[in-house]
Amino acid sequence: MARLLVTGGAGFIGSNFVHHVIGHTDHHVTVLDKLTYAGNQASLAGLPADRLDFVQGDIADAELVDGLVSAADAVVHYAAESHNDNSLNDPRPFLDTNIIGTYTLLEAVRRHSTRFHHISTDEVYGDLELDDPQRFTENTPYNPSSPYSSTKAGSDLLVRAWVRSFGVEATISNCSNNYGPYQHVEKFIPRQITNVLRGDRPKLYGTGENVRDWIHADDHSSAVLTILDKGVIGETYLIGADGEKNNKDVVEAILTELGQPADAYDLVTDRPGHDLRYAIDSTKLRTELGWAPSYGDFETGLAATIAWYRDNEAWWAPVKDTTEAFYASKGQ
Ligand code: NAD
Ligand code: DAU
Repeated sequence: MARLLVTGGAGFIGSNFVHHVIGHTDHHVTVLDKLTYAGNQASLAGLPADRLDFVQGDIADAELVDGLVSAADAVVHYAAESHNDNSLNDPRPFLDTNIIGTYTLLEAVRRHSTRFHHISTDEVYGDLELDDPQRFTENTPYNPSSPYSSTKAGSDLLVRAWVRSFGVEATISNCSNNYGPYQHVEKFIPRQITNVLRGDRPKLYGTGENVRDWIHADDHSSAVLTILDKGVIGETYLIGADGEKNNKDVVEAILTELGQPADAYDLVTDRPGHDLRYAIDSTKLRTELGWAPSYGDFETGLAATIAWYRDNEAWWAPVKDTTEAFYASKGQ
């Protein structure tokens, strides 16, 4: 049994990871989460109290972080400001949490010689042309586009520097777009599902041709556990499930699953600097650490996700109006 400190464990992917760890291991989890607009303790409801502690606090609070890290065998770092559209509106919290917060954690794991796993994104690599035969690999140069992705790139580089300069025992993973339960309705898939459930039309940025490489959050969790268990210190692993789809196809699949005409969506103002395509080559993780995703096909995972939002309106309804008011103010 290990004691894991999971930052951002009340967010989308962090909470899926906590559920996965409790269901698949005997590890004890302490969640450190600030409960920003994106955090929701209800995402951890029903988990056994003897396996989970919850601490509300900021990863940039050095004293709090030091105490929690000293009691942990490993830190899994999910906490971040995660939404590109918000970073275009107000970049400052992205610097505070993604850069200073990660620095604060790195200094604590350095002091206590604690194993550290840093969760990052494929967006650090910039974007690809639609017809580019290449996908991102661990050797692709960093080329982030947005305030969000540039702060994630900066946090990755801090981790690499702390490994090399101070001998911190860290690994990094860069994952593609996640979908699944407990994702905030600001994000693409839950926004469109909940729009249709409320009788509103999905909103596609630009022409809807942008491509994202979808992976179920539970597969992301199993990959992170694999890296924690077998990953080589100092290494970076790309996580992906060969799930490339353009946004228009995803919206059409949601509408069809919910019994609506496939063309019942609106084209809205595009995101400034909108990355065209992400695509992950996860060969290293699969061949060196033996990981494989469980959700073989996107359509099955999407249907389960739609069912989750239909059954859990009480989880998302309280934040839906505020989220839509923000988008409406930008013509989106
Ligand atoms: P999210 O926005 O749903 O959750 C972020 C969580 O972090 C929230 O619970 C929030 O309260 C918490 N948090 C924010 N600032 C904090 C602070 N200063 N101190 C403590 N807690 C704080 O994000 P997500 O989509 O679950 O993403 C989690 C991680 O995974 C991020 O690091 C993100 O960059 C990375 N990632 C996300 C995706 C994706 O598709 N969503 C893909 C690849 C990587
Ligand atoms: O690639 C990993 C990244 O995926 C993570 O690092 C980020 O934290 C996560 O938010 C996600 O970033 P994206 O910007 O790709 O996700 P988002 O859900 O915001 O948008 C997905 C695509 O859908 C993108 O091309 C923009 C488009 N979109 C989004 C919204 C909210 C729309 O067309 N309409 C919308 O209403």
